[in-house]
Amino acid sequence: MSAGYFSALAVVLRTNNDSPWTNEFDKIELSCLIESISTTSPRIEWKKITNEGPSYVYFHERIVGDLEHRAEIREPATLLITNATRLDTAKYRCEVTAVDDQKSFDEIVIDLVVRVKPMVPKCSVPKSVPFGKSAELSCVEEEGFPKSQYQWFKNREEVPQDSKTSFNFINSSYSLSTETGTLKFIAVRKEDAGEYFCRAKNDAGHSECPSQQMEVYDIDVVGIALGVLVVVVVLLCITVGICCAYKRGFFSSQKQTGNNYKVPAKGDGVDYVRTEDEGDFRHKSSFVI
Ligand SMILES: *[C@@H]1O[C@H](CO)[C@@H](O)[C@H](O)[C@H]1NC(C)=O
Ligand SMILES: *[C@@H]1O[C@H](CO)[C@@H](O)[C@H](O)[C@H]1NC(C)=O
Repeated sequence: MSAGYFSALAVVLRTNNDSPWTNEFDKIELSCLIESISTTSPRIEWKKITNEGPSYVYFHERIVGDLEHRAEIREPATLLITNATRLDTAKYRCEVTAVDDQKSFDEIVIDLVVRVKPMVPKCSVPKSVPFGKSAELSCVEEEGFPKSQYQWFKNREEVPQDSKTSFNFINSSYSLSTETGTLKFIAVRKEDAGEYFCRAKNDAGHSECPSQQMEVYDIDVVGIALGVLVVVVVLLCITVGICCAYKRGFFSSQKQTGNNYKVPAKGDGVDYVRTEDEGDFRHKSSFVI
């Protein structure tokens, strides 16, 4: 009798789920159930509560604001969002006013999370790394909600967090962060070369970037020494050659100048050739030095 008395005079709300979640572009129900009421047509309102404060979602028996055309009310007071967006992540308050009840007002707050599937992450894989040097592979995705976690794959096999746990990675030295998406080799080995791609994932799903090849090349000490030797020899040859050419050029222009008295008209031309020879020599000689 006393229970009936109270229920007859009080509006009491209840929800099936006070922290529902859905994926973006799916539907989601924010349940607001009336457990007891005696007023026949109570006033029902929904408000969305964000950092900027509350705003109306359902008011005067109409869906208003951002959710207009994307939501409806289901008896008695449940809010059904038919196509959730990431901006719908917020707290929502169901308020029911029942004027004929003694306790004439009740409210419940529902915390909605709209999960967003990660986009294709931006991946950066160095094309070619010298043996023994460090290398950094990065992977970034910023749309996903909750925040993306990252996995790296080499030749389609997941790179384990701890290299010791997998036979194929046991000799590699790297650090891998699932939070930042960075795979950092401390000193690359020949065996680290391969096709790499990254996966960004969260509760809503996952996306991958196309795989990219990383090559590892040797810094060949003997090869470099030989190369230096070849360059030195070539430079020596050039120097010797230029010295000979200079000597020959010098004497021949002296001879030509000596002939000037026979062909005076061509004297200017001979001078010009000589100057050019010297200019050429100066240019080459400064290059060698
Ligand atoms: C949901 O909304 C998005 C854009 O806001 C639209 O592209 C998509 O077609 C909608 N889906 C449905 C089922 O209405
Ligand atoms: C790792 O290194 C050891 C010793 O150098 C070698 O015997 C083994 O074959 C290597 N394993 C792989 C998977 O490269």
